[in-house]
Amino acid sequence: MPIIIQENKSLKAYNTFGVDAIARYFVQIDREQQLVDLFLLQQLKSWPRLILGGGSNLLFTKDFNGLVVFINIKGIKHEAHEKVIHVHAGAGEVWNDLVHYCVTNNFAGIENLSLIPGTAGAAPIQNIGAYGVELKDVFLGCRAFDTQTNEFKTFERLDCQFGYRESIFKRLEKNRYIITSLSLILSTTPLLNTSYGAIAQELAEQKIIDPSIKDVSKVVSKIRVSKLPDPSTIGNSGSFFKNPILKASYFKRLKESFPDMVSYPVNEDEVKVAAGWLIEQCGWKGLKDGNTGTWKNQALVLVNHGGATGKEVYIFSEKIINSVFDKFEILLEREVNVI
Ligand code: EPU
Repeated sequence: MPIIIQENKSLKAYNTFGVDAIARYFVQIDREQQLVDLFLLQQLKSWPRLILGGGSNLLFTKDFNGLVVFINIKGIKHEAHEKVIHVHAGAGEVWNDLVHYCVTNNFAGIENLSLIPGTAGAAPIQNIGAYGVELKDVFLGCRAFDTQTNEFKTFERLDCQFGYRESIFKRLEKNRYIITSLSLILSTTPLLNTSYGAIAQELAEQKIIDPSIKDVSKVVSKIRVSKLPDPSTIGNSGSFFKNPILKASYFKRLKESFPDMVSYPVNEDEVKVAAGWLIEQCGWKGLKDGNTGTWKNQALVLVNHGGATGKEVYIFSEKIINSVFDKFEILLEREVNVI
């Protein structure tokens, strides 16, 4: 399959925020071999590069004066081993289609990650997580194209240096590797994680005592739909900021002034605080500012009410960072990738 490099392509349909930006060059990759062919092109070496999956964790604040590489490698298959299942997905598979494949086949492990936007290939980059489960818990490996050596490399879990919304692909090796496929290790005997408050509460309300994988997936989807805006109707990138991790000693002092602060212990020395709570306390929840604002049911999610530019959203996010800092002396860090 030949590679086709398009010029001056609108990225509006390629980012869930739905902001308009133009890519100077754009190429769609459907097969691994096309990456090899692409990187043989000499002129490409000097162009800035952006690897794009579902565009669900991105905010374009300007046009991209380089090459956007849209990864569209498809295919899902699995192998059964004695007690576990290995599932392999092309990087361009929509993450929730992969969840659906696993849930339908009764493979347990990613049901709590139902309905997360984005692609399978993007999942390891920020170690996606929700409702007590992170990708790293089921990660078997991924295959990636090394843009420095033009060879493919396999990464296992320890190679990826996973952390909270972090991995080697976001830090040390940023922009070096292009993930082409993802492999998960799942179980046929469900070890469901339903301890997260909202899941437990919803299961109890529905009087489900012994939930199946499908039940958990349904409940998680219901919670997400009730709290988070659907990017196909209201542009957004999920949580715009990370939940900040504070020193336990500082948290203890803050808690004296703000006894209701929502938090989760990380370890003996650190506490994670709900950024959504901090933002709400500063009066931003559901607030509209021009074409942007925060979501009415979850202040951590910034939205595009229609026609917002990336710059507008970025400036709005600065206002939030400043007011949270003024009130709590906590510096929020953006989770989304700002281009
Ligand atoms: N809260 C508020 N006001 C708000 C939002 C939240 O007070 O406007 C408080 C509530 O008390 C709530 C608590 O914060 O109980 C936690 O909120 P939620 O359960 O919605 O989770 P979160 O910590 O805000 C994280 C992830 C989400 C993930 C959920 C569920 C991050 C940055 N975000 O959000 O991930 O779906 O937990 O596990 O870690 C994403 O990364 O894009 C994302 C959506």
